[in-house]
Amino acid sequence: MIQVIRNIQEMQNISGQLSRNGKRIGLVPTMGALHEGHLSLIPIACEKSDKVVVSLFVNPIQFLPGEDYEKYPRNLKKDIQLVEETGGDIVFAPEVNDLYTENHSTYVNVEGITEILCGASRPGHFRGVITVVCKLFNIVQPAVAVFGQKDFQQVVVIKRMVHDLNIPCEIIMGPVIRESDGLAMSSRNMYLSPEERIDARLLFASLQHAERMVLEGEVRTEVVCEKMQAIINQSSLASIDYIEIIDPWMLKPLKKITTEAVAVLAVKFGDTRLIDNIILKRTSN
Ligand code: PAJ
Repeated sequence: MIQVIRNIQEMQNISGQLSRNGKRIGLVPTMGALHEGHLSLIPIACEKSDKVVVSLFVNPIQFLPGEDYEKYPRNLKKDIQLVEETGGDIVFAPEVNDLYTENHSTYVNVEGITEILCGASRPGHFRGVITVVCKLFNIVQPAVAVFGQKDFQQVVVIKRMVHDLNIPCEIIMGPVIRESDGLAMSSRNMYLSPEERIDARLLFASLQHAERMVLEGEVRTEVVCEKMQAIINQSSLASIDYIEIIDPWMLKPLKKITTEAVAVLAVKFGDTRLIDNIILKRTSN
């Protein structure tokens, strides 16, 4: 039977007890409204730990003014059922006023890799993400935490935070889970109009094209990015925020693809901003 914990002190007590009993805790942090993308991270955590905690918390401080904090979908009852069906052991769903008490004034920031890409159009977003993840790590004390490649920059930033702050938690990245036409699953897909939803498949089409070009020997990122742009611009509804090919550690744009590279993009359809990425591999010859 799944345990649902809403109280921070109670979660800390349970985690402390588990750790003292030599149990490894696995954490899957989420904002709820769970879909198959989120749920795919639970079995990965199960494999690496003895008890899996899934946190459900819509984190106000990672939303910018005017973003969708208020209308972000919330469905605690259904989420608890989904976590249970997928093999999670504990749901941790704190109240916003308990996690952020009246005079909360401590924030964690990772410098250098949070002002670019998604951080450029969402200033302060990563500071909010890192702060809540740091708080969740302190409360749940996981030995391992699983995040999705869907939010590639987020994983890199969290890995850096864990490294820099000496947090004893292994960070694992799970693959992007997609709809049948390739669109990466996201809670925000539901905001798309039927026409936008059809055109949104172009995002993955452009990433697949980039993957093919690189496999066929193209190393010039400018050429690949131009092609990706052309594919996405087939839709008059799409407005490109960024398309870049970056190195997977410093997230800096590359001129040439030599070893590892990641194609990342953010595209807006109306007010809905979608992100996606693909890890590019060169053929070894
Ligand atoms: P949220 O958007 O709810 O996502 C929770 C986790 O699910 C993240 O690690 C995200 O990368 C992963 N995820 C989302 N869609 C996915 C998909 N299609 N395939 C694979 N994984 C997917 O990301 C957050 O919440 C928040 O920023 C959080 C880390 C919880 C901090 O508040």
